Amino acid sequence: MQEIRFGIIGCGLMGREFASAAARWLHLTNPKAKPRIVAVCDTNPALMDWFATHLGAIQTTTDYHALLANPEVDAVYCAVPHVLHAQMYPDILAAGKHLFGEKPFGMDAAQNRAIMAAVAAHPDLIVRCSSEMPFYPGAQKVIDFVNSGAVGEILEVEASFLHSSDINPDKVINWKRMQAVNGEYGCMGDLGMHVLHVPLRLGWRPDTVQASLVKRVSQRPDGKGNLVPCETWDNATITARVPTDYGNFPMVLKTWRIAPGEANTWSLRVLGMKGSAFFTTKSPRQWQFMHYKNGGNQTWQTEDLGYTPLFPGLTGGIFEFGFTDAIQQMWAAYIDELAGGDAAGFPCAHPSEAAAHHAVLTAALTAGRENRTVAVDYA
Ligand SMILES: NC(=O)c1ccc[n+]([C@@H]2O[C@H](COP(=O)([O-])OP(=O)(O)OC[C@H]3O[C@@H](n4cnc5c(N)ncnc54)[C@H](O)[C@@H]3O)[C@@H](O)[C@H]2O)c1
Repeated sequence: MQEIRFGIIGCGLMGREFASAAARWLHLTNPKAKPRIVAVCDTNPALMDWFATHLGAIQTTTDYHALLANPEVDAVYCAVPHVLHAQMYPDILAAGKHLFGEKPFGMDAAQNRAIMAAVAAHPDLIVRCSSEMPFYPGAQKVIDFVNSGAVGEILEVEASFLHSSDINPDKVINWKRMQAVNGEYGCMGDLGMHVLHVPLRLGWRPDTVQASLVKRVSQRPDGKGNLVPCETWDNATITARVPTDYGNFPMVLKTWRIAPGEANTWSLRVLGMKGSAFFTTKSPRQWQFMHYKNGGNQTWQTEDLGYTPLFPGLTGGIFEFGFTDAIQQMWAAYIDELAGGDAAGFPCAHPSEAAAHHAVLTAALTAGRENRTVAVDYA
């Protein structure tokens, strides 16, 4: 089987998730190619020890330029704090490596534009943006339902990503709560790509937005006995207007870091005149849908899906699908494309989708700050 040799820049939470997904590649039934991690880079050497322990003889370096100079590296996964995307992604492409970049693909719209210029300058390289939640089988069912035309004229779409751990004001601050590193989007930069990936894929491009931005925790411990400013937005509720040929519909996008009781809940609900559909990771093996005929019953149905992903694996169809499966499916889609495949019809988020998500978030930031409706500028 073809091997794609990867370098990882950023050996934190997400770098390790990729290594774990790659390590159980035998899980997938018939992949076109498999990843092999040949190099890792992090400014924290201790984090690279874990990779060296588990992967044996690989390049470890604290300087990402050394990783990019390694001719063994075909493709790079870059999972570093947001402020570094605009510097590293173009460098990765300039080195001739395929790029799987973490969201939000630049800390703000200006940085995203710099990345997009580099992407445009390297049309031969395959560049995709991380977003794994749509790979849940239930999410795919909602997508197929919409694509089949079953929804009819849309009444409303709601896409949410809800976290709750920031409700604890004693939680020690990390870079994701620092504006200079995470960006002014705050929670929207963290979670916006997750909620916008499917809507943008389905062609729902907001023309205007309103937004309620919430900041509840203004200081956090720094872990050294001090309280320091916590500057980022905690929660954002964006109400977007999506134009269609039959009129507009509202699309509600929730990116909340303080959603009481929610660990990591991604959900998508589409309500239409002919059909409606809903999936939430709270019920990972189910989806709900309704078909409506004029004057008929309005009955939601629930279907158990089990393990029915885009890229078949050895898990029996009756078992549950989970977060680590979604991560592996996302990687399977990217690696399938690198090997010449069509990603089973659902390629990972495209740079143009990341750019469109920046347009929406930039408008939402202004809308929330100034409490007004703002047009989304996709140019
Ligand atoms: N797809 C998802 O579900 C998901 C989840 C969490 C985070 N992310 C994204 O992944 C990216 C990283 O987030 P994370 O949670 O893994 O963060 P993290 O803090 O756990 O890891 C980031 C790593 O980058 C390293 N780093 C910092 N500067 C560096 C440099 N100059 N050279 C090399 N390494 C450097 C840090 O030492 C750290 O180990 C972000 O873009 C974030 O938005 C995605």
